[in-house]
Amino acid sequence: MTAEDYPDGSTFRRIVDEAQLHAAVQRIAEGIARDYPHGYPLVVVALLKGAVVFLADLVRRLTMPLEIELVSARSYSGTQRGPVVAVQDDLSRLGLAGRHVLLLDCVLDSGHTLHSVLRSVLSCEPASVRTCVLLRKQRERAVSIEPEYVGADVPDVFLVGYGLDYKNLWRHLPYVAELPPGLAGE
Ligand code: IMP
Ligand code: MG
Repeated sequence: MTAEDYPDGSTFRRIVDEAQLHAAVQRIAEGIARDYPHGYPLVVVALLKGAVVFLADLVRRLTMPLEIELVSARSYSGTQRGPVVAVQDDLSRLGLAGRHVLLLDCVLDSGHTLHSVLRSVLSCEPASVRTCVLLRKQRERAVSIEPEYVGADVPDVFLVGYGLDYKNLWRHLPYVAELPPGLAGE
């Protein structure tokens, strides 16, 4: 793709526009404020790289004391039918034992990623863990997981923008759009 061919996003079909994203983040922040009493620091653990835009918007709407941690997880297809998700970072370095943890991801698709990272967080023996996704695809989950906080339900199509990427591109779009079929596979 040359610079001239590089689309500006104007032809991308918006699935969640900026106003809808802001409203969704606000609703999540209000839910979190209701559920967590002030007085103890929350540890917000966000999954790289997709959740960083959501994280930045969400934490600025929270008023309780909180710490931010970033972790990487990678899914890959092994010999098993479902993808295996590896938490790449050593979570024990985060010192989550006895802490109240809020785990953030940008999108819930098959459920493997959040399920696997949640298991790893639980093995650190936190005082509590809740999970939060900005977007939840409307599809059957491969594993059973119901996040406590969900921003918006979205169709089961490949999405980019607001942190979500295709081949590490398009994370910077301020809205969530369907990846145009013409760009897939390039
Ligand atoms: P899951 O493990 O199938 O639930 O997928 C969750 C992870 O896959 C997210 O953390 C994203 O990194 C990635 N992902 C899933 N769906 C999309 C999408 O439509 N666009 C971009 N990334 C996605
Ligand atoms: Mg990705």
